[in-house]
Amino acid sequence: MKKIGFFWGSTSDNTKDAAEFMQEYLEGEGYEVDSKDIGEVDVEDLQNYDKLLIGCPTWNIGELQDDWDSVFLKFKELDFKGKTAAFFGCGDQTGYPDNFLDAIGILAKPFMDNGGTLIGRASREPYEFRESVALDGDELLGLGLDYDNFDEDENDELMIPWLDQIIKEFG
Ligand SMILES: Cc1cc2nc3c(=O)[nH]c(=O)nc-3n(C[C@H](O)[C@H](O)[C@H](O)COP(=O)(O)O)c2cc1C
Repeated sequence: MKKIGFFWGSTSDNTKDAAEFMQEYLEGEGYEVDSKDIGEVDVEDLQNYDKLLIGCPTWNIGELQDDWDSVFLKFKELDFKGKTAAFFGCGDQTGYPDNFLDAIGILAKPFMDNGGTLIGRASREPYEFRESVALDGDELLGLGLDYDNFDEDENDELMIPWLDQIIKEFG
């Protein structure tokens, strides 16, 4: 079924804006997208979907955004067997080069540990940073967006091929 549960958190609205762009794009490709602010729903709602898209910016030097942080203890206990998810996040490669996009890794790792299938790995190439919990070899465990250093067009140009990639990977 072409239905995606889309859960995101956002403090200063960058991830929210990216989520709106992604929802519109995916709906244009024929998906039904249930887009939800994680601050307004129960984290158990994730279990109602087989295809998941999860967005979380990194805040407070290597931490999850507040609303994700509040539900993280429950999130990491969920059973993700049979679920496929793509992760993305906003960060600031110049301001936080040792913790760039950490939140993607903080959420993606327990998802995989608990049986989930991760899609949407991305190249680390367009970014300049030193360390990230989201790094796995030379790849990132999800898509990084950086509204502090890239303009809107550059972020759109990162999103479109990645969305095409996850559409293929969702199958
Ligand atoms: C106090 C503070 C701490 C931050 N810490 C990090 C960080 O550790 N790593 C990172 O990549 N970005 C960090 N950022 C940048 C945010 O992730 C970035 O501005 C993002 O676009 C915010 O997303 P949002 O508008 O959806 O909340 C931080 C920003 C602030 C203001």
